[in-house]
Amino acid sequence: MSLDANANRFSGFADLYDAVRPTPPSVLADVITRYAGERPKVVVDLGCGTGLSTRWAADWATAVIGVEPSADMRARAAAVTGHTNVSYVDGWSSDTHLPTGTADVVLAVQALHWMEPDGTFAEVARLLRPGGVFAALDCDWPPSIGNAAAEQAWHTARATVAIHEREIAGWAPARTSRVASSSPQTDQLRPTDPNDAEAAVTITDGVQFWHKGQHLGRMIRSQQFRHCVEIAALAYETGDADRFVQLFKSQGDYQALRRHGFDDAALGIDRFAEDVAAELGKGEFPFWFTYRARIGVRGSDVAGAGR
Ligand SMILES: C[S@@+](CC[C@H](N)C(=O)[O-])C[C@H]1O[C@@H](n2cnc3c(N)ncnc32)[C@H](O)[C@@H]1O
Repeated sequence: MSLDANANRFSGFADLYDAVRPTPPSVLADVITRYAGERPKVVVDLGCGTGLSTRWAADWATAVIGVEPSADMRARAAAVTGHTNVSYVDGWSSDTHLPTGTADVVLAVQALHWMEPDGTFAEVARLLRPGGVFAALDCDWPPSIGNAAAEQAWHTARATVAIHEREIAGWAPARTSRVASSSPQTDQLRPTDPNDAEAAVTITDGVQFWHKGQHLGRMIRSQQFRHCVEIAALAYETGDADRFVQLFKSQGDYQALRRHGFDDAALGIDRFAEDVAAELGKGEFPFWFTYRARIGVRGSDVAGAGR
C-alpha cells in the first residue's frame, strides 16, 4: 500500500507546525520509562515530523532516532540545533531500515492514525527489545482554554473544513464556492467500508487514516504485546488568541484545502479568527492539552510477544 499521500499531506507548513504544536507532558515520559524498566537507551520516534516529539524524548533517553518520510518535515527537524542525542532518518512506520531488537521504546506521537496498522505493529515488534514499550500519543482538539465560545468557534470552523474535505474526497457534490463562506454542518467523514469502524478512511488526495479511537483495540488484536493499556494526562502550556488560530491552521486538512484553492473565508477561518479575537482579546492564557497514551509492552521473549 502506498502511503506517499500521507507524507505529502505534511509538506509545506513545517515552520508553522513546529511553532505552535504542543509537546507531551513529562509525566508520560515517567510512565513509559517505568514500563520499560529503566531509562531508555534507544527511542525510535515514528512519524517524528519537525522533531517536537523527538526532542521531547531526548530529555529522558540516551539517544532518539526520528523516522520521517516527508523530506520537508525532516529538514525542519534536522535544522534545530542543541540536542546532540537526536538523529533523523528517512523511513516509514512499516519500513524503518533500523536494526532489529535495538529499541527500548518506540513512539508514535500524533502520528499512528496515518500509519497502516498491520505493517506498523509488525515493524514496532521487530524494533523493540524484549520487554520494550510502544507508546502511541495523541492530544484532543482543541486544547481546553477555559472559554466555551472560543472552543465552540473552533468546532464550527472544523465542521466547515470537514464538509469541504468530503467534497474533495468525492463523497458529496461540490455545492459551495471555494472563495465564499458556507453554512457548517457536522457530518462525519465516511470510512472506506461504512460498516467497519476499523477500516481505513480515504480523504483528500488519496490520504488514508485509521480512527484514533480504535488504536488500543488494534494494538491488542495485533498480538504483538503482552500488555496494553490506555491512560490520559494533561499537558499545560500557554498561548494567546493567535496561537489558538494558528493551531487550527497547523491541521493537515486545513492545509490540504488551502492547496486546493479554498480561502480562509470559504473555510470559515476568517470568522473563526474574528470570534476568537473578540472573545479572548490580547494576552496569554492556559492551553490544557489532553494527551491519550496507548501503551503496549512487548513480551519478555520476543518470539512470544504475549508471554
Ligand atoms: C501530525 S505529524 C506528528 C509529528 C510529531 N510526531 C509531533 O509530535 O508533532 C505526523 C507525521 O507523520 C508522518 N507520517 C505520515 N504517514 C506516515 C507513515 N506511514 N509512516 C511514518 N510517518 C508517517 C507525517 O509525514 C507527519 O510528519
